Amino acid sequence: MRPETAPPEPAGGIRFTDRVIVLGRSGSGKSELVNHLAVMPRCQILKWDSKDEFTIAGVEPVYRPEDIRWDERVIHLVDDSCELEDVDRLFRLCWDRKVGRTGHAYGLVVVVHELGDLCLDAPQKTPRAVINYLKKGRAHGLGLIGASQRPRNIPVSARTEVQHVFTFSSGLDPDDLPIAAKMHRMTVPEFEQALEQARGLGEHAYIWGDLRAGRNTIRPQLPDHLRAQSLAQGIDARNYSQTHDIRPSPRTTRPSREAAQS
Ligand SMILES: Nc1ncnc2c1ncn2[C@@H]1O[C@H](COP(=O)(O)OP(=O)(O)OP(=O)(O)O)[C@@H](O)[C@H]1O
Ligand SMILES: [Mg+2]
Repeated sequence: MRPETAPPEPAGGIRFTDRVIVLGRSGSGKSELVNHLAVMPRCQILKWDSKDEFTIAGVEPVYRPEDIRWDERVIHLVDDSCELEDVDRLFRLCWDRKVGRTGHAYGLVVVVHELGDLCLDAPQKTPRAVINYLKKGRAHGLGLIGASQRPRNIPVSARTEVQHVFTFSSGLDPDDLPIAAKMHRMTVPEFEQALEQARGLGEHAYIWGDLRAGRNTIRPQLPDHLRAQSLAQGIDARNYSQTHDIRPSPRTTRPSREAAQS
């Protein structure tokens, strides 16, 4: 199905061409919020599933960038090896989707639940194509929704190009506080006070920094009816047997890395 042209300004002031970053400790609710934000754009969505942790109803995952069918509206790419050369290849292909001179008329939003995986937690190793996408993609209809526990480990351009930053009330590692405070355009004491205020609203409450509007707001946890509007469902290990019951795995269809590269 051909993706539709995305509206420039969905609810809440988030545009599909924005860089949207969700921060918080493990279990704070980042993935839930990312999956909810990812249902808003009506353009093409590419979920880069670097932990192989999601299923998307009606979408068959692919395991290498070359197997992506670019005519699908929602693409689910599973890559839990996160080799930087593969990441670079993927973002080169995404760059080819830029609107305008390429003849494409609709946008693309890449969804990444662990932004540190784009550079193996070493910002100086960020592949060139990722930097290009982050820095120049906005003008070409290329957006990003991402999450991280450790903003100091994500590509620097993801931090500097951000338009919307969400931080969960559980806060961050102390080393990351100055980085996150800067992303929210707050001083560290202001940021700590805002986190304290958010904690008063609950463990999944968050601060939403809308940098275009120059505003931070503290929000209660995403209510259940909005959590239900989600791009993907997490694979829940509790659904699997604990007994040593040897049966063919449904994942035997996944190609080996060698086969995938041949
Ligand atoms: N708005 C919410 N209301 C109630 N429970 C929530 C909410 N958001 C998240 N949770 C609970 O928190 C759990 C963890 O959420 P989620 O997987 O999104 O965390 P995460 O920050 O992505 O963690 P990780 O860093 O380990 O990936 C969910 O399974 C859910 O039970
Ligand atoms: Mg997560």
